[in-house]
Amino acid sequence: MVAPQETESSAGPDLLHDPAVKDVLITEPQLQRRVRELAAQLSADYAGREPVLIGILRGSVVFLADLLRHVEGPVKIDFLAISSYVGGDSSGVVRLLKDLDLSITGEHVVLVEDIIDTGLTLNYVLRVLGTRNPASLEVCTLLNKPRARLIDRPLRYVGFEIPDSFVIGYGLDYNQRYRNLPYISMLKLP
Ligand code: IMP
Ligand code: MG
Repeated sequence: MVAPQETESSAGPDLLHDPAVKDVLITEPQLQRRVRELAAQLSADYAGREPVLIGILRGSVVFLADLLRHVEGPVKIDFLAISSYVGGDSSGVVRLLKDLDLSITGEHVVLVEDIIDTGLTLNYVLRVLGTRNPASLEVCTLLNKPRARLIDRPLRYVGFEIPDSFVIGYGLDYNQRYRNLPYISMLKLP
């Protein structure tokens, strides 16, 4: 692990000296390299098709934006909003706050997630999207916490497997903060 001060950061001095942001788990260059690899895999797997990347708001926006820039060929994006977490605790209660704007019937869909933890959110979203009869439906998650899993669903594309602890940055928040960190850090609460 690398201290935040040793990484290139555009997050500003407040977050860098925030005691909650302590141990960097995945650095900005590591993220960028892996995202390019995932995009290359997607580009190859969906060559000749026009996949729809569906981001789950808000955690996946940074990952989706970076991923999208490296996907070659035609591609569409859309967003869903889900509510499931208050603070660092999983209530297990999932609600659809915003539906897709596009129809995905007959489309090749890639669900883009920031992190799969218990799998409850993913399970809910896959069930909702599955009823719309997409031509295919796969999952691309930046982070996977396999040890926290309650419901297992196949994950076609995984950026990094991480330990079962709460992480922030690169889109992931704690009470809506820290999404702007350009790296993934462990959350250290006092
Ligand atoms: P699951 O339903 O337990 O798999 O939780 C998935 C969602 O919970 C993710 O999309 C995140 O929004 C949130 N989440 C789970 N673990 C973390 C974490 O370590 N940091 C920030 N958000 C998390
Ligand atoms: Mg999320």
